Amino acid sequence: MNHFLTTENLDRETLSGLLDEADGFAEVLTRPIPKVPALRGKTVATMFFEPSTRTRMSFEKAAKALSADTVSFSPGISALSKGESLKDTVLTIRAMGVDLMVVRHKATGVAWRLAEWLDIPVINGGDGAHQHPTQALLDCQTIRQRFGTLAGLHIAIVGDIKHSRVARSNVFAMTTLGAEVTLVGPPTLLPVDVESWPVNTTSDLDGILGSTDVVYLLRVQTERGGASVFPSFSEYAERFGMSMARMNSLKSEAIVLHPGPMNRGVEISHDVADSDRALILDQVANGVATRMAVLFRLLEGDHDA
Ligand code: NCD
Repeated sequence: MNHFLTTENLDRETLSGLLDEADGFAEVLTRPIPKVPALRGKTVATMFFEPSTRTRMSFEKAAKALSADTVSFSPGISALSKGESLKDTVLTIRAMGVDLMVVRHKATGVAWRLAEWLDIPVINGGDGAHQHPTQALLDCQTIRQRFGTLAGLHIAIVGDIKHSRVARSNVFAMTTLGAEVTLVGPPTLLPVDVESWPVNTTSDLDGILGSTDVVYLLRVQTERGGASVFPSFSEYAERFGMSMARMNSLKSEAIVLHPGPMNRGVEISHDVADSDRALILDQVANGVATRMAVLFRLLEGDHDA
């Protein structure tokens, strides 16, 4: 594996192997000193051109837990504002002695451009509405921890699928690992090419709750136009929001996931978000171990310390 850009080309063996490795790193993170020397001497750069709390900080935490150094690029206070191009920016940072870049950008495909320009591994931390592969990995790990496997599970991904890189990455990872995925949302929030995705679709959330093992809620992405296709947030919540009443009609072992950031009161009610069956903070915790697995896989090959 040279880069980690998309889940679309990952086979079951690769995905399961990364999840197994992540389980090992999760154990490291429970130790009194939650650190191993695996990537000593390496430097990881986080290049976030779009806001992020979880993804950027967990990559930094993951790199540090592997004893790598981290440097962090902030577009607002960089020379981008003086007109420096993206290519010159990344080549400049590479020249400082960086060994891997994690990039998030609002434009689809930016991580692939960096992978062309650079001679080091690139991880896609989210490109537009396209892909966010490490999010899918941490979600699959959270599900696997709870159920032992994804094979045979019914997973409903609910909400603004059209604008969601998280949904796209998860559909391919989850189905490759053997789950059956149903996309639930207003038809206007389904992607135009959904016919070619390996999924079922419905706009009847209540109709599928009783047969679902995992309900994966998505944020309505107002910054990408997600709210313009329904009349009001309260109407959205009425039809597609996860309420206590809806949660009570799930199977007793079913779980609720959300990638964050949540719009409480829209796609998820306060009480569901805070309930034991919502594993949202487990997802965040798993983000560190799964990102350690990806960093390690990409950088271990040329480690000579
Ligand atoms: C998501 C993202 O930025 O793609 N958040 C995340 O990385 N956990 C989802 C979102 O913004 O709704």
